[in-house]
Amino acid sequence: MKKLDLQLSTLAIVGFFVGCSVSNVDTPSSADPSSAARDPGVRGGAAGAGAPIAGLTKTELAFFSAGKDDFAEEEEVADGLGPTMNLGSCGGCHLHPALGGTSPPVNPQIAFANKKGAANTVPSFITLNGPVREARFVRNPDGTPDGGVHDLFTIAGRADAPGCKLAQPDFGQELARRNVIFRIPTPVFGAGLIEQIPDKMILANQANDAPMKRSLRIHGRPNIVLAGHTISGQANNNGNDGTVARFGWKAQNKSLLLFSGEAYNVEMGITNELFQTERDETPTCQFDTVPNDVTKTDGKPPLDAISAIEKFAFFARFLAAPTPSLDTPGGAASIARGRNLFSSTGCALCHTPTLNTGNAAVAALRNQAVNLFSDLLVHDMGPGLADGVTQGQAGPREFRTAPLWGLGQRLFFLHDGRTSDLLEAIRAHKSGSAFTGDASEANAVIENFNHLRENQKQDVLNFLRSL
Ligand code: HEC
Ligand code: HEC
Repeated sequence: MKKLDLQLSTLAIVGFFVGCSVSNVDTPSSADPSSAARDPGVRGGAAGAGAPIAGLTKTELAFFSAGKDDFAEEEEVADGLGPTMNLGSCGGCHLHPALGGTSPPVNPQIAFANKKGAANTVPSFITLNGPVREARFVRNPDGTPDGGVHDLFTIAGRADAPGCKLAQPDFGQELARRNVIFRIPTPVFGAGLIEQIPDKMILANQANDAPMKRSLRIHGRPNIVLAGHTISGQANNNGNDGTVARFGWKAQNKSLLLFSGEAYNVEMGITNELFQTERDETPTCQFDTVPNDVTKTDGKPPLDAISAIEKFAFFARFLAAPTPSLDTPGGAASIARGRNLFSSTGCALCHTPTLNTGNAAVAALRNQAVNLFSDLLVHDMGPGLADGVTQGQAGPREFRTAPLWGLGQRLFFLHDGRTSDLLEAIRAHKSGSAFTGDASEANAVIENFNHLRENQKQDVLNFLRSL
């Protein structure tokens, strides 16, 4: 953790200089080919994200705004919060570089732990300048697969939860038996575009460049929603329609509405239309005065009649994709070279630069280019990144190719937020081997990257931070 904190402060300083001083200048990346490439750091300047998608109608914009307000809203016990949860608002976790994004520089989970007198202990893996995290347990005490989210906090001790007695999970003990894995928030910028990419397009892209993928041992497969195991390690039958799921680190969720419903109950403990049952049914800790599980439409205008989870989904759906920079960091020429190297080394075989939406009902989402840098498939990433958790068809070593749009302004990388350094994130792609049968599909591509000259690596890093 110490190491991460230090890196972050260094990055912030480097990012500041890059953002303020070097735009438009073609940097020394090509001047001295031997100086070691390094992550230019978080791109400064205005947030290249957070606005609604262009071309929305007036009504669609009204739904976006209503969704935005609800997404930012801090919930209390009277609103249904708890009995167990990871935070009190969607916006607290999805905040950087704008509402809808991911972990902010100061982790709001620290202050939340003792809000209103709550008696929570902050687990060791949550730090003030570290990423927002949620925890999953790999196995149950009897050794069978768990894989589900175990909320960090309870409402016990809060002034608005009198009489509630409820202990947190024993994270110390679970950490000691190496049973805890972490997930950081994925940003929802451009999520409505991702939702509207037809399955056909994802499958056609999977078949593209077949000889090249075969020679580099890249396979990938869609996480198709079948009965059972759709959302966590526990069996359920949500969204059982045989189509390609695409949201979350393992592409485990089909739609923004489903993710919103799940997050409302799992992250915040608030039951809703899609998830009616409290995850913790301790009788002394049930205080819901506002049942969230029935949409109350009587005599209300449409915006008030739709439910909170529908509003969250509208916000995410109408949130524009991040805007890349054309010249920062490192200058336009370096970024252009980096983009080409990103393709020629093979990164783009998984991180597909562009897919397209289909015939969406909303005009602003119809037949649009989606520059997400992902194939939306899950890949075997080897033992180095494995988390031991199965979600839908995605196995213990498999992850969705992380979309890279918006990367330039992100603070933490990889599913567990283990690093703030792009070079480390790239190196972590490589682990396992053909001999032991657990080779990461990215091994050959990372070899290609490692063989680049330092100034070429710098071009790739500049390109990544321009996104
Ligand atoms: C405690 C932090 C936290 C809170 C609160 C939270 N989220 Fe998230 N969110 C996450 C994490 C972690 C993930 C990635 C989960 C995974 O894939 O394992 C995520 C992923 C998502 C995604 C998927 C985006 C993608 O493309 O992968 C959506 C959509 C989302 N959250 C919506 C919401 C909504 C709506 C709320 C409020 C009801 C919410 N989140 C509250 C942490 C949080
Ligand atoms: C075999 C497919 C594959 C290849 C090839 C690949 N990646 Fe990835 N990449 C992934 C997956 C899957 C993840 C998410 C891994 C995780 O979080 O555990 C990822 C994550 C990342 C991240 C972190 C993003 C985030 O949101 O935290 C970066 C940066 C990245 N890749 C860059 C690259 C670069 C640069 C290359 C080429 C040198 C490359 N990748 C090649 C599949 C691939």
